[in-house]
Parts: sequence; C-alpha cells; structure tokens
Amino acid sequence: MKKDYIDTSKFTKEELMDIVNVSLLIKKHIKAGYPLNVLYHKTLGMIFEQPSTRTRVSFETAMTQLGGHAQYLAPGQIQLGKHESMKDTAIVLSRLTDVLMARVISHKTVEELAKYATVPVINGMSDWNHPTQEMGDIITIFEHMPPGKRVEDLKVVFVGDCTQVCASLGMMITKMGGHFVHYGPKDFQLRGDYLDILEENCKISGGSYLITDNEEEALKDADFIYTDVWYGLYESELPKEERMRIFYPKYQVNMDMMKKCAPNAKFMHCLPATRGEEVTDEVMDDKDISICFDEAENRLTAMRGLLVYFMGVMDETIEICKKNMKG
Ligand code: CP
Repeated sequence: MKKDYIDTSKFTKEELMDIVNVSLLIKKHIKAGYPLNVLYHKTLGMIFEQPSTRTRVSFETAMTQLGGHAQYLAPGQIQLGKHESMKDTAIVLSRLTDVLMARVISHKTVEELAKYATVPVINGMSDWNHPTQEMGDIITIFEHMPPGKRVEDLKVVFVGDCTQVCASLGMMITKMGGHFVHYGPKDFQLRGDYLDILEENCKISGGSYLITDNEEEALKDADFIYTDVWYGLYESELPKEERMRIFYPKYQVNMDMMKKCAPNAKFMHCLPATRGEEVTDEVMDDKDISICFDEAENRLTAMRGLLVYFMGVMDETIEICKKNMKG
C-alpha cells in the first residue's frame, strides 16, 4: 500500500528517525562525491498553490541528485480543483508521475489529493502544518545538539505567532520526547486540536510542552529559539501595524533575548525572514548563534530522505551508501 507524508502525527518516532537517519546518510554520501541514482527516470510532480523558494528548489535538486526529474506545476497553471475535480486531477497525475508533492492553501486539498492519488503524496505546506520543514528542522537540531545532551533533554522554544511552522515544530519535538515551548501573546498561542496532538505525543514519548506569554519561564535554559514571520501568511489577518503592536518589541528575537537562554543557544527560522521585525540582523548573521541557513540547506537533506523513504527505495539506498563509503 502506498504511504503519504501529510502529517507527522501519523508516524511513530521510530519511523521518523528512519527518515532522519537515511537523510543524514545520503547527505554524507553525496558530500563525499558519490552518485546515487536510486530514483533513475522517476518523476516528481510539484503542485504549488503558493510561491516558494526553499521547498521548490530543494525538491527539484533532490530529484536531480537521485537520478530523477521534477516538474514544477506553478500556482494557477493546472486545473487543480477548478476546471477539473481534485479527484480527477489526482488520478491523472498518478498516471503521469511517480510521486507528488503539493504546497496548498487549505490542508483539505492535500488530504483529498492523497485520498485519490495512487502514488505517494508529500505535503509541501498547508494552513495546518509544514512537515517537510519539520523534517529539515529536526535534522538540523540533531546536527547542532548541545554537547552531552540527547533530544529528550532539549528545550526548544518557538517565539511569536502560532503559525503552521510553530505547530509542526511542537509536533516534532514532543514526538521525539523533548520539551517544547510556545512563547507568544495569549490570542496567538497554539490551541485546540494542536494541543491534543502535543498531549498525545508527550504521553507516548515522555516529552512535555508549555504554552506561555511569560518570558522568564519560556527562555530559561532554552537550547533552541525558533521564530517565523509576523505578517503576510494569511489573507484574513489583521493589518500590519496592528500585528506589529501585538508582537513588537516583546517577541522580537534579538541579542537581549538570546542572552536569557542557555549558554550557546541556537537561533532557527524557517525563512523567509523579515529582518528587523521578528529577528534582528545581529542574531540572524551571528555565526555562533544562527543556524537558519544550515536549516535551509537541510530542506534538501530532508527531501532526499523523504523521497527515498516514500518511493520505497530506502533499503537499497542504505546498502549503496554504506558500500561506497566503506570502500
Ligand atoms: N520555509 C519554506 O517553506 O520556504 P519556502 O516558502 O521558500 O518554500
């Protein structure tokens, strides 16, 4: 049966760790200069209802590096849900490609695509979550683990609005057994179904979470500080001036905020960032603190691992990588 990657809450920690591990192995293999044509002549259809830099480029590069090809289906350029039903689009694209990814406005769209597609479907971001970002982020966290700590020991704090990236980070950290904090204004905090998922994850993993607008309890001993933009994600949101009044200056990630965290705490951002709003240049460009560009590179690391896993070539990929790197 085909598997889709729509929501990490449908996967166990062990399954997600398999993807993390194969992603890191492929990264090492490719950086060592070995070819890896495990998706030779396979085609990825990339449906975009919204613009993208990282998601588009990392998927396309990943397919090229794995010996396959990606087709960019730009916003408004295919019949998706307009002149053709979602069901028919899913059936047709399944006949024409080997795997699909979709960046959609509404989460229902990617769920419906997955329901009718007969090839694997990967969620490239919806209004509910951003699971490919989640995978790149946890890989980046593993690469920058504070000395002597395990993922279960980490305190990871998302600062600002409860965006889908905030929700995804919370789902991944609690799934892994770490401590997740959403530090944001009361009316912009994670709630509802998201909290049910965090609760369930913590029961299984032994992790924990906290939703707060209290700076001290949020930042104390934090290992990773993560933020996202304050404005421009949703059509229905408040005017920019009003949103700035809500988030600025309390929730801006600046050097003063970073000093209140654990020594050597790292800064993360899914990007694109609005420099001077949710984060200062000083933090974003600090070589010791900021890992947001490693995070962007790890979108590619994650895409390769996800494609290999969901295309069913994980075992042969591991074998090829191990054989080449032993030689
Ligand atoms: N972080 C992220 O998804 O970036 P893009 O919107 O550029 O794909």
